[in-house]
Amino acid sequence: MDTAGLSLDQAPPITIPFKYFLTAALFSIAVGLLFTLHGGDVMSSRWSPLALGITHLITVGFLAQVMTGAMMQLLPVLAGSPIPKVVVVSWVVHLSLLVGTALLVFGFLSSRELLLIAGGITLSAAFLILLMSTGMALLRSKSHRHTVRTLGFGWTALAPTVILGGYLVAGLAGLTQVAEMQKIVTLHLSWGLLGWTGIVLFTTIFELVPMFYVAPGFPVLIKHWSLPSVFLLLVILTLSNFMPGAFLKASLVLIAMTFFVIGCYVLSIVYRRKRLIVDTTLLFIWTGVGSLLLAVVVWLSGGNDLLLGGLLLGGVCLTIPIGIIYKVIPFLCWFHLQGLLIRREKFDHTVPSMKCFIKEKEAKRQYMLHLIALCLLLMASQLPNPFAMPAGAVFLFSSLYLFKNILYAYIVFHNERRILNS
Ligand code: HEM
Repeated sequence: MDTAGLSLDQAPPITIPFKYFLTAALFSIAVGLLFTLHGGDVMSSRWSPLALGITHLITVGFLAQVMTGAMMQLLPVLAGSPIPKVVVVSWVVHLSLLVGTALLVFGFLSSRELLLIAGGITLSAAFLILLMSTGMALLRSKSHRHTVRTLGFGWTALAPTVILGGYLVAGLAGLTQVAEMQKIVTLHLSWGLLGWTGIVLFTTIFELVPMFYVAPGFPVLIKHWSLPSVFLLLVILTLSNFMPGAFLKASLVLIAMTFFVIGCYVLSIVYRRKRLIVDTTLLFIWTGVGSLLLAVVVWLSGGNDLLLGGLLLGGVCLTIPIGIIYKVIPFLCWFHLQGLLIRREKFDHTVPSMKCFIKEKEAKRQYMLHLIALCLLLMASQLPNPFAMPAGAVFLFSSLYLFKNILYAYIVFHNERRILNS
């Protein structure tokens, strides 16, 4: 594994990513619970309060927690520039993301305007603090790596997502008149799913795959230019809002094609890796990228919205981050313990291998549950009855398993750290 250039001095306490990842798993448990109890209603329409609630449990609940937790650890390491006052910032952002998501989701579920407004304001505050501190770290960074620049584009895409989300909340609460609500929703979800999620997830994959699987690097055109092009196309998409509808469609088609090409490259680079094992992270990446490719095909052929939503939210947003968690957690645990061992000069002790923090067998079991839940979810998008309820129940079980796996890794880490500190 190539870890050249990584420095522990810059990395914040490991409790930070664990806190975010465990909270993310709790939000996915909430998704499973809601789906088990009301799966049929969720699948009745993408605009049902339940569907909107679940969408935001996944995006601002699960996804934002995972991406923020991973970013707070990886950004200082990748960019060589720590997030200022990371412990305080992480507490404030974590708490406001947690509370803001709960308020927004309860607002959707109960159609209470006050809760929607409170959720919108709390989440906007959380993202503002996050973006300001991440932005400061990126600006101070002396690194000229393209990865850092691309991550900057990804996190910047969160700003229009949140602003448009806030505008939609104001519209729903009757505080303002939103002209062409449908167009604004399209822009909001495009910046959120294609901009922020797509750019940050694939920048991470571009780094992780060559590093952990000893695979060839991605071609310059893909690694350095494809994701910034998605950002540029989203800007054009936003401007085209004031132009005839054809521009809007053309920009979306180009973005979809770009992601299709990126997805194909990820599969081909993984295929050409030197480390031939198929671990759980790879299974999650394959499933996530496969879902993305399928989503592009479904969208281009005018397929149904619920199937598309299932593929993007369930297949990509809930799948790739779990694969990343399974790679990042054992690596960070090992990396931190190794650093501690050197600082304490306990050279008679050996740090457990990465495999000990999350057992491959346990991760694979969780993957199987996740895959079954995903297949049931996709079937439920066509036939809510009888598939929606079992999809929710299996997903609930899979999320509980994920929570258990993360917690187990923390307990192993904690015990080892205690030994090294004694
Ligand atoms: C401050 C944060 C956010 C707020 C206040 C917010 C608010 C909203 C509102 C009010 C709607 C429209 C509901 C309706 O038309 O009845 C919406 C739709 C949507 N939002 Fe958000 N949102 C936020 C963040 C996000 C993020 C980060 C993502 C994605 C990563 C996202 C994805 C979506 C999607 C996919 C829809 C459309 C659902 C559909 O078309 O079925 N939202 N959001």
